[in-house]
Amino acid sequence: MQDALKDGLLFSEGEIVVQMLAACGYDALEISQGLQDIGRVTSFGDWSGTPMRSKINKITDEGYFRSWCHEIKQVIAKPTILTGGLRSYEFMTNIIENKETDLVGLCRPLIRELNLISRWQGRDYRKATCISCNKCITELLLKGLLLECYLT
Ligand SMILES: Cc1cc2nc3c(=O)[nH]c(=O)nc-3n(C[C@H](O)[C@H](O)[C@H](O)COP(=O)(O)O)c2cc1C
Ligand code: SF4
Repeated sequence: MQDALKDGLLFSEGEIVVQMLAACGYDALEISQGLQDIGRVTSFGDWSGTPMRSKINKITDEGYFRSWCHEIKQVIAKPTILTGGLRSYEFMTNIIENKETDLVGLCRPLIRELNLISRWQGRDYRKATCISCNKCITELLLKGLLLECYLT
């Protein structure tokens, strides 16, 4: 929707792109944030301006692209996939029931817990154990290590 880099894509431009993609016939659109050129990122800092935010400590920190999804729902009729910081089954169920999004997307929680969906299907509804520390990404990008959870 909007680039994480200062001179990258603006939200207003992202909105136009979304409408073009919807008109092209995409079945659904994932609402997230872009990194136009990850090669230009020299320091990952606290990750606050990236799609992979850290510090998701409580349920109100989850779904940090929720307001973008709300705005996009006003301009397209296609199903949305909200991603970004979703950790609790309860949170995801609520936003789908409230029709804030049609689908949800998970990334880091599935790197840490390959069986997360089966766990929830088995009615173990404890939140994902990923703490969003981003070690998986830094080990991948900076050291070229395999993509896996490096939280010890
Ligand atoms: C290892 C890794 C690679 C990713 N690669 C991409 C990518 O190529 N394009 C993209 O739009 N987002 C990418 N993302 C961002 C995720 O799609 C997702 O938006 C983000 O991790 C937030 O969701 P989460 O809190 O469930 O991890 C990547 C994330 C991780 C952890
Ligand atoms: S290293 Fe593990 S706990 Fe940390 S963000 Fe990656 S998957 Fe989550």
